[in-house]
Amino acid sequence: MRTQVAIVGAGPSGLLLGQLLHKAGVDAVVLERQSGEYVLGRIRAGVLEQVCVDLLDEAGIGARMHREGLVHDGFEILAGGERQRVDLNALTGGKSVLVYGQTELTRDLMEARADAGLATVYEAEGVAVHGFDGARPYVTYRAAGQERRLDCDFVAGCDGFHGVCRASVPKGAIVEYEKLYPFGWLGLLADTPPVSDELIYVNSPRGFALCSMRSRTRSRYYLQVPLSGSVDAWTDDAFWEELRLRLDAPARARLVTGPALEKSIAPLRSFVAEPLRFGRLFLAGDAGHIVPPTGAKGLNLAATDVKFLAAALIEFYRERSEAGLEHYSARCLRRVWRAERFSWWFTMLTHRFPDDGPIAAKFQHAELDYLLNSEAGLRTIAENYVGLPLDFGAA
Ligand code: FAD
Ligand code: PHB
Repeated sequence: MRTQVAIVGAGPSGLLLGQLLHKAGVDAVVLERQSGEYVLGRIRAGVLEQVCVDLLDEAGIGARMHREGLVHDGFEILAGGERQRVDLNALTGGKSVLVYGQTELTRDLMEARADAGLATVYEAEGVAVHGFDGARPYVTYRAAGQERRLDCDFVAGCDGFHGVCRASVPKGAIVEYEKLYPFGWLGLLADTPPVSDELIYVNSPRGFALCSMRSRTRSRYYLQVPLSGSVDAWTDDAFWEELRLRLDAPARARLVTGPALEKSIAPLRSFVAEPLRFGRLFLAGDAGHIVPPTGAKGLNLAATDVKFLAAALIEFYRERSEAGLEHYSARCLRRVWRAERFSWWFTMLTHRFPDDGPIAAKFQHAELDYLLNSEAGLRTIAENYVGLPLDFGAA
């Protein structure tokens, strides 16, 4: 089989890239290790920046997102027992974010791909990428018990943090920056009305918590938990009890509990691989970088990588110009590092670090007290949360 772009991974990055290329008449095949149902069963992101929303519109899959997504003009921070609203709209000249689950977005992209009759190979085993340092890369894999080979002009590594693409780059050609945090997030999804109309980020003496949602009838909550624990140790009742202890009295009074539809623990990590291009292999999304979810940036960064990569590939096929491909890595990384910084900083400000003494909590509270009572401080948080501009101009 031959295609122009072989896309490894059918998460949001791979599917969105496939859709943008298809709209421009560039041929691509998507290879995914898991089944479609498995991909849809992973509960992850919930908050989309305007840049991401615009891109999904450009890809022609925005209709359901606009119908069902919830526009959020602000969110709250609960610290030291007090809540403070970050008015995104007022602080950023009218910007907002959209609450729409990654699962729904992935479903929209999968359906668009199936409707257009585009090739996606689910349950592709043993995917391996070859020859990307030359002009004729190819990908091998097993499907339906048969060995297959896909020849292509380019390979897009959209296969997430544990994927095969980044792992195939010779060690000397890549620099990896990494920070692991000494805790994880335990997430619970339930068909109960959210505790508030807006998200609440909670800094409590018992650890961080987040009250989020997927719709007016479906809630998503997270608790900071030790990495040593297993998800099986957390009954639904234990989760709700711990959440209650981290909330304030008004939220406790409004909290509606119910059986978990899904419960899982995610580790928190900051990670960047440099560069994001190796010959004819390009990394996009979580394959190239990871942020802790505190700033809600991972999916949004993936979307902007894909925007830049799609534009560069389309430019290559239309104009035979490699300019976009050459600038891809540097263009993405500048934005990536800014989001990495914000996600790290917001994590440090809101979580309890087990090895830090009581003075660390005092520093956090003093910083929050300063930021949340300063127009400039609030604006800094709001500007980063709604998403920085696509390009920042000259460095
Ligand atoms: P992935 O979604 O990881 O997709 C990669 C795909 O590649 C997978 O389907 C995988 O099965 C496949 N694959 C892997 N290896 C292979 C292989 N060898 N061969 C073939 N296929 C392979 N981001 C936000 O912007 N906002 C949020 O609110 C937010 N909240 C989050 C909450 C949590 C709890 C977590 C864990 C993440 C959150 N994120 C958030 C981050 C976001 O979910 C990720 O950044 C996003 O999934 C990245 O998409 P991706 O397509 O690059 O990678
Ligand atoms: C989510 O709803 O899953 C979510 C929302 C905001 C975050 C992280 C996760 O910062």
